[in-house]
Amino acid sequence: MKTIPSVPIPIPIPIPIPILDLRPAQFFDQSHIIGSASFPVSELFERLHELPIRTQAVELFGSVSELEIATQFLSSKGYHISQTQVANQQKLLELQQSNNLAFGKSYQRLWQPAKIVKRFVDDYSLHCDNKTGLDLACGSGRDAVYMSMQGFSMTAVDYLPSALEKLSDLAIRCEQSVKTIQLDLEKFHQEKQLSSLSLLEEYYGCLVVVRYLHRPSLLQLKSLIDIGGYIVYQTFMRGCEKFGSPKNPRYLLESGELALAFSDFDILVDQVEYLADGRPTNCFIAKRMK
Ligand SMILES: C[S@@+](CC[C@H](N)C(=O)[O-])C[C@H]1O[C@@H](n2cnc3c(N)ncnc32)[C@H](O)[C@@H]1O
Repeated sequence: MKTIPSVPIPIPIPIPIPILDLRPAQFFDQSHIIGSASFPVSELFERLHELPIRTQAVELFGSVSELEIATQFLSSKGYHISQTQVANQQKLLELQQSNNLAFGKSYQRLWQPAKIVKRFVDDYSLHCDNKTGLDLACGSGRDAVYMSMQGFSMTAVDYLPSALEKLSDLAIRCEQSVKTIQLDLEKFHQEKQLSSLSLLEEYYGCLVVVRYLHRPSLLQLKSLIDIGGYIVYQTFMRGCEKFGSPKNPRYLLESGELALAFSDFDILVDQVEYLADGRPTNCFIAKRMK
């Protein structure tokens, strides 16, 4: 009788559930659960952009009142709270005895950059000689800070001071330094006969644009990219309007629009990527050749 060789069944590696420590930062710095992230309850609202994606379950650690406030707030934002632990002396002692306590400041990154930015860093950044980057319409800065963490000297532009403040706070927490410029990218400066983009007069090794489209200046973006430099773009496409915002065609890329605009570049990635809610985005990376 022939014996059929048994095929080993792969055992899935469990992904640890992020633990948010809601206590004031000085308590966290004294001691905290290994791997947990400091999110004092008073900062939760301002630091929503630093939380993991909403489909991810989270655990909470804090006083009874901190747990109550955070559970209510995070549930209203769509998070699933899988466990809450009351932080008291007894609990901290137990954690210490089981070697689950860490001491001192630490930053646990729970957020992710845009997928296309991660792909650029993983697959192309090694070939990028000019390690300067510009993040246009940067928002609260996850992509600019992530690029900075990967060794790029980053400049980030947005017209909202509040977004730039959040970016700077995030950069400090991640021990990075990102130059910020407050600028309306869609403004034409009559007196100088210049668009805002012309004011950024520099050649960057990588130009990042995520979830933003200003069609009239699309072609002008090229003049900000160094020869051998890259454009890294991800934004919504026509078809989004069926699932949510944006609905205005002004903010929705047509299929093949980026490829056409950058047809004189070497196109390395040009894919449609669907977000979890079904909205289509165009993920695009191209290299300036001349
Ligand atoms: C959907 S958010 C995307 C932010 C970031 N790129 C990201 O993916 O997390 C769009 C950003 O564009 C910025 N923005 C919109 N119009 C702008 C303009 N005319 N000039 C500069 N920034 C602008 C907004 O302030 C906002 O931060």
